[in-house]
Amino acid sequence: MATPHIELEDKSKIAKTVLMPGDPLRAKFIAETYLENVEQINGVRNMFGYTGTYKGKKISVMGSGMGMPSIGIYSYELFKFYDVETIIRIGSAGAYTDKLNLYDVVLSTAAWSESSYAKTMGVSSKKKLNATKSVNSALKRSAKKLGIEIHEGVIHSSDVFYRINGDEFKDIHEKHGCLCVEMESFALFANALATGKKAACLLTISDSLVTHELTSAKERQEAFTRMMEIALNAKVW
Ligand code: ADE
Repeated sequence: MATPHIELEDKSKIAKTVLMPGDPLRAKFIAETYLENVEQINGVRNMFGYTGTYKGKKISVMGSGMGMPSIGIYSYELFKFYDVETIIRIGSAGAYTDKLNLYDVVLSTAAWSESSYAKTMGVSSKKKLNATKSVNSALKRSAKKLGIEIHEGVIHSSDVFYRINGDEFKDIHEKHGCLCVEMESFALFANALATGKKAACLLTISDSLVTHELTSAKERQEAFTRMMEIALNAKVW
C-alpha cells in the first residue's frame, strides 16, 4: 500500500534499516556510489529513495527534506507503514563551539528542541529526546573500526536556519549543552518513540556559528563520505 508521500506498493522492497540524508540527490549519490542491485523506491516530489545491497546486506537510503515537518512525514511513513525498524539520519550541522572544526563528525546522543513537534504529535512534552543507544553503539564501533574520530553529545534541532539574533546560540549551548545545530533529529527521535522503533543521527559540521566559517558544496560532498561509510558499515541489522 502506498502512502501519501511514498509511492511504493510493496513494502518488502524497503530494507529494515534506512539511511536518511536531507538531500534526495545525496540519497541518489549514496545508492550509485556504494550500493549494488539498486532499485528506486520513491520519486514522489523528487524525494528519491533507493534499496540495494551493501557488502551483501539489504539497505535503503532516502531523502528526508529539510526541517522537522518534512523528516516527520517521511520517517513516520517508513516506520509505521513500511515496517522500517531503524532510521539513521546523516546530515550537516552548524557548530556551537570552537571545539568543533569544519568536517568533524558528531554523533547525537539526544536532540534538544524548542519545536512543538513531539507535543503536537501527542508523543512527549519533553524538550530533549534521546537517540537509540544500541544504534549509537553500533555507529561508534563502526567509526572506531574505520579509524574515524567522532564527537558525541546533545544537538540542537532548530526550526530556523536564518536568525535575526546571531548570538542566541550561545545561550542554547550553555543552558542545554548543545554542540551544534541542525533541523531534523528531534522529529525523527519523536517518531521513533511514537512507533517503538530505533533512530540515530550522524552529522558533519558544515559551518560554524562561532567562527562563521563555511564549507563549499564540493568539499562537503567529499567530507560527507566519511559519515556515510560509518553508517553503511554499522552493524545495526
Ligand atoms: N545545518 C547545517 N548548518 C546549519 C545551521 N547553521 N543552522 C541550522 N541547520 C544547519
